[in-house]
Amino acid sequence: MSNQPAFKAIKVSKYFGEVHALSEVSLSSEQGKIFGLLGPNGAGKTTLVNMLSTLTEPTAGKLEVLGVDVINNPNQVRKLIGLAGQFAAIDEYLTGEENIYMVARLYHLSAKEAKIRTKKLLEELSLADAAKRQVRTYSGGMRRRLDLGASLVGHPKVLFLDEPTTGLDPRTRSELWDIIRDLVNEGTSILLTTQYLEEADELADHIAVIDHGKLIAQGTSRQLKSQLGGDVIKFSLKNKNDIEKVMAVLKPLSSGKIIYEEKDNLVNLPVGSHGSRKLIDVVRKLDGAKIETVSFELHEPTLDDVFLNLTGIKASEVAEVKKSKKGWRK
Ligand SMILES: Nc1ncnc2c1ncn2[C@@H]1O[C@H](COP(=O)(O)OP(=O)(O)O)[C@@H](O)[C@H]1O
Ligand SMILES: [Mg+2]
Repeated sequence: MSNQPAFKAIKVSKYFGEVHALSEVSLSSEQGKIFGLLGPNGAGKTTLVNMLSTLTEPTAGKLEVLGVDVINNPNQVRKLIGLAGQFAAIDEYLTGEENIYMVARLYHLSAKEAKIRTKKLLEELSLADAAKRQVRTYSGGMRRRLDLGASLVGHPKVLFLDEPTTGLDPRTRSELWDIIRDLVNEGTSILLTTQYLEEADELADHIAVIDHGKLIAQGTSRQLKSQLGGDVIKFSLKNKNDIEKVMAVLKPLSSGKIIYEEKDNLVNLPVGSHGSRKLIDVVRKLDGAKIETVSFELHEPTLDDVFLNLTGIKASEVAEVKKSKKGWRK
C-alpha cells in the first residue's frame, strides 16, 4: 500500500442512458497530496467522487484506492476513505455533538471511545462552543466543518471533499482551507473537487480540469499556466463592431487562441514570452488599422485564462487561431 497512488482511475466512463457523465477519464494522485478536480457545474466531478467512494459503479474502466480495486473490494475501500459530500449529510435537529457521536457509534466505537473522538473532532474543527446546539442554528461554514468532522471519524487515509466550500463567503472559505491544509500535513491524501480556480490554485498540488465528462488538461498550476504559452494582453474595444478586424489584424501576433469575451467587451490575446515587447507591436497594429481601444494591460496568465482558453467558458469565441503548440488539448 505504501507506494500505491492515493487513488487512481483508469479509462473510467459513466453513462446515465444518453448522458455521458464521464468519458474515459484516467488520473492518479500521489499519497499525502491534494489533487484538485476542477470543472464547471455538470462536468462530472461528483460522478467520479461517487465512484471512487463506492457509491456507484462505472460503466467501464477501473478504479483503485491505495491499490485496492474499488469495484471488487468496496468494503475494504470503505475502511480507507472518508467522504464529505456537496450536500451536508447531517441531521438538522440533532446537536453537533450528537451528530458526530452517532457517526462514531456507526463506526463501532464504544460509547466511551465515541465520546472522546467526538470531543476531539469538535475541538479541532472549532465547534466545541457550538457542540450542544442544534445544527439548524449553525451557519453554512459550521455545517461544512461538522460534515467534514463526520467524514474524519474513521481516520480516513484518503479523503474525498466534493465542493467543500461552494457557497461559502471568502473568510469562511479560507478557514476551511486551513483545516484542509492541516489534514494534509498530518498525512491525509485528499481529492478536492471545486468550481473555483483560485481554490485549486491555492490548495492543489496537482490539478485536473474536466469539462463535459472529459479530462481536458492536468498538471501543476504552474504547468497549466505555462502551457498557455506566456503572457496575455487584454484590452477593450471602443467600438465592439471592430472585433472582426481585430482578429484579422492580430492573428499574426498571437501565440494561441484569441478569445473575445463579448459580455465584458474584453479581448484576450496570448502573446507568448516577452509580452512587454509584443505590446508595442500590438498597439502599432491596432493604431494602423484605426481600431480604438479603451483599456490595455499585459499580465501573466492566471488559471482563469487557462480555463477560458480550454473551455471557452465566460467567453464567446469569435475566432480560433490555429495553435502552434502541441500537447495541450487531449
Ligand atoms: N443519476 C443521474 N442520472 C442522470 N444523469 C446524471 C445523474 N447523475 C449525474 N448526471 C449527469 O451527469 C453529468 C455530470 O454530473 P455531476 O457529476 O453531478 O457533475 P458535477 O459534480 O461536476 O457538477 C451531468 O450532466 C448530470 O446531469
Ligand atoms: Mg457535483
